Amino acid sequence: MPEIKLKSDSEDDDTHLRVMDIDGYFIPTFPLPDHEKHFRSMAGWRARSDDVMISAYPKAGTHWVWEVVGMLSRQKAERIPEIKETVMMEGISEETFDNIASPRIMNTHIYFKYLPKDFFDKKCKIVYVIRNPKDIAVSFYNHHKKLLEYEFNGPWEGYVKRFIQGKMDYGSWFDYTLEMERFIKENPGYPIHVVLYEDMKEDSLREIKRLADFLKVDVSDEMVRKIDSLCHFDKMKKEKNVNEDPSEWRDNNPGMYRKGQVADWKNWFTIAQNDMFNTIYKEKMASSKVEIRFSL
Ligand code: A3P
Repeated sequence: MPEIKLKSDSEDDDTHLRVMDIDGYFIPTFPLPDHEKHFRSMAGWRARSDDVMISAYPKAGTHWVWEVVGMLSRQKAERIPEIKETVMMEGISEETFDNIASPRIMNTHIYFKYLPKDFFDKKCKIVYVIRNPKDIAVSFYNHHKKLLEYEFNGPWEGYVKRFIQGKMDYGSWFDYTLEMERFIKENPGYPIHVVLYEDMKEDSLREIKRLADFLKVDVSDEMVRKIDSLCHFDKMKKEKNVNEDPSEWRDNNPGMYRKGQVADWKNWFTIAQNDMFNTIYKEKMASSKVEIRFSL
């Protein structure tokens, strides 16, 4: 799979992001031998009917929801020992996938067309996480800057335009969100549960209970409270960061858990950038019924 240095479309921006290019679709450079072969074969992998997929555009809160769903499905308020990257579809081989113990709580940022067909035939459950794209842009900017594999250290100014263009791994937030909406509309009855990051921040107990109902797991209020507390941002930052390899991060400082807030974008977007973003959002999302809150 060819590694490329992905440029943005802006003439005044000479930064690049180092990513993998699969026929014009971009994913990160995972340290997996024969990565391209595995990725291309994924559509043929075998699913299990109790597989669950956490799907989201990057930086929507995948780690948070994956941790909650992992605890709910084990029916134990206990820290998940692994990090979510070990069960991320686009970063593992078929052999690894086959050897994961059931129930497999997987996660991914890729389009459904790349996932195992069998997963959809077996009607495996999907939890889809959405977050407002302004906070995603800020979070992804920090992610791209801090993770050394991307070789990126550009200014925020150019990055906002790059984000709008979707010149990054997993492409455009707008395309992804519209595609997910299309899937939900065209597959009525498919077991897919939507969680909004902002709703989780507003009332995590309510959202964890909704997740438990969707997953059909019977959990006491006490268990929900314990899971909620273990998955609190500060606690996850402290207890999950220890599993990250510092050498992969700028200044040896793992940054997967950054701020964990709604509307941090207000500290980053200038008035002009915000106006530009709003105009483009209105245009691109004109047909969408997804209701997104940019602040609480
Ligand atoms: P910020 O960069 O805005 O802080 P993902 O898991 O999809 O990569 O998303 C990462 C974003 O979710 C980061 O956002 C991260 O800090 C935030 N996040 C991770 N764990 C969280 C938690 N337990 N509660 C709230 N936000 C969390």
